[in-house]
Amino acid sequence: MHYLLFFFHAGALAAPAFTGGPVIIGENGYTSAPYHGPYTGTPTTTGAVMAPGTLAPSIEPKPPNPTATYYNAAGVPQQPMPAPYSDWDFESIALGVYQEYIELDLFHDGLARFTDAEFTAAGLDPEVRSLIQFMANQETGHATLLSNMLGEAAPKQCVYDYPYTTVREWVDFMQRVTRYGESGVWGFLAHLDSREVAQLLSQSIATEARQQMVFRQMAGLTPMDVWFENGWPQSWQWTMLAPYVSYCPEGTTRLAWQNFPTLRILNNPNINRVDANNTAQDGSEAVGDRIADPSRSNLTSGESCINAQGVGVNCQAAIARNRTQPLSYPGKRVFFDWEAPGQAVGPNNSYITSTTAGEPKFVAWSNQLNLTYSPLTVTGAQAGWTTQPEGFVYDDEGIINGTMAVMLTDTDLFVTPFNLTQLNPHIVALGLYQAG
Ligand SMILES: *[C@@H]1O[C@H](CO)[C@@H](O)[C@H](O)[C@H]1NC(C)=O
Ligand SMILES: *[C@@H]1O[C@H](CO)[C@@H](O)[C@H](O)[C@H]1NC(C)=O
Ligand SMILES: *[C@@H]1O[C@H](CO)[C@@H](O)[C@H](O)[C@H]1NC(C)=O
Ligand SMILES: *[C@@H]1O[C@H](CO)[C@@H](O)[C@H](O)[C@H]1NC(C)=O
Ligand SMILES: *[C@@H]1O[C@H](CO)[C@@H](O)[C@H](O)[C@H]1NC(C)=O
Ligand SMILES: *[C@@H]1O[C@H](CO)[C@@H](O)[C@H](O)[C@H]1NC(C)=O
Ligand SMILES: *[C@@H]1O[C@H](CO)[C@@H](O)[C@H](O)[C@H]1NC(C)=O
Repeated sequence: MHYLLFFFHAGALAAPAFTGGPVIIGENGYTSAPYHGPYTGTPTTTGAVMAPGTLAPSIEPKPPNPTATYYNAAGVPQQPMPAPYSDWDFESIALGVYQEYIELDLFHDGLARFTDAEFTAAGLDPEVRSLIQFMANQETGHATLLSNMLGEAAPKQCVYDYPYTTVREWVDFMQRVTRYGESGVWGFLAHLDSREVAQLLSQSIATEARQQMVFRQMAGLTPMDVWFENGWPQSWQWTMLAPYVSYCPEGTTRLAWQNFPTLRILNNPNINRVDANNTAQDGSEAVGDRIADPSRSNLTSGESCINAQGVGVNCQAAIARNRTQPLSYPGKRVFFDWEAPGQAVGPNNSYITSTTAGEPKFVAWSNQLNLTYSPLTVTGAQAGWTTQPEGFVYDDEGIINGTMAVMLTDTDLFVTPFNLTQLNPHIVALGLYQAG
């Protein structure tokens, strides 16, 4: 529960209209406080709050924690893992290096690939392109910081295989890539042994979060449609990233994370439609079969929101956009098919998808502070559907919104944002849902 607490002694009330007391967000809505202005009474106490005593006048400087650095020149785990796919600090940062390198290349690629006329048609004027250029340069800094943490064994820049052919699809892909980059870090940050590393990563992931929001704006999506950003296990991030990495140089440090089979969302809402409820139900409106592939942008002019006129239907790049027809909604029937494990993915096709789960029974929806389930109806070999559930974080804030992870699971395990990784052994397949 989050409270806004107002501690006022009754006798010290300066403003006659002040009613005081705890405000529970959402109970009766919140309009404006009855009084705004300076304090005009007399303080009943002064100074910072004191403990029963202090142990010393200042804190003695100490050497860094033994966990402060994670140089591992060998680049492979040196200790037995506590459980499969869970060598934490080194491997988390190594994953971060893979992420920063794809972003460095990806943000530059579209700028080099598309013409001024194509950018203008997508609503991205030269000032916007300069911003993308700046974000591309931010990635140089992020890749440098993370590589420096790992030293010799840092993974290297690879060759990537991108799914987009238009400016719009490029921007859409970037809002998906930065979603898994951002959520992947929120997932492991609080579990790092090295708080020193966590400090620096916090400062880079705050920037990545802004990039994700800016790319949503450039894709004509609502910039923020959640109250809390979701954190994901590393293996989810790696599952989403690996299919876009094609070649890596000889000797590139390998990762210890799991690659789950891909869950394809056959009617994943097409962000370029005026009415995303009309998205085809056969998967044909994603540009390809890979997990984070963007929506097709080549719709007919009647269907496309890119040049549609008016609030609620136009989805050109903007600071904020409304949609009269939502991208998705509770009660929507969502159709899936999923891959069998054993597919070769990632750098040089050298990682193999796997699962330790039993038969899929549930669809798990991970977003905000929540992991919520709906029952899966299996309709064939690796095919099925579910109904998008309704559920709220607080007040009327729907859990399912934005760019988020969904998965098939063999059980409806109770997990929290802090122990979400415990779900991994139960995941049959993982997908990226474009809610909104
Ligand atoms: C998703 O977020 C948008 C923007 O805040 C809001 O208009 C919409 O109602 C939300 N959708 C659901 C299903 O909660
Ligand atoms: C990936 O393949 C390329 C080309 O075949 C090769 O040069 C490179 O060493 C390979 N990388 C790894 C990490 O095996
Ligand atoms: C979405 O489409 C389905 C099937 O065409 C229809 O039954 C449903 O009412 C539509 N929902 C919305 C919110 O438009
Ligand atoms: C969009 O592109 C796909 C793949 O090339 C094609 O199948 C489809 O017909 C195109 N749609 C339109 C409206 O041009
Ligand atoms: C935008 O949508 C919100 C609800 O999500 C609504 O309250 C608001 O009136 C809409 N704004 C416009 C300009 O249509
Ligand atoms: C979502 O998470 C919040 C915070 O833990 C919790 O209060 C709320 O009940 C959860 N909602 C659902 C539907 O589980
Ligand atoms: C996750 O943490 C919550 C809160 O501590 C606990 O109730 C739950 O059992 C944990 N789940 C698993 C699978 O460990």
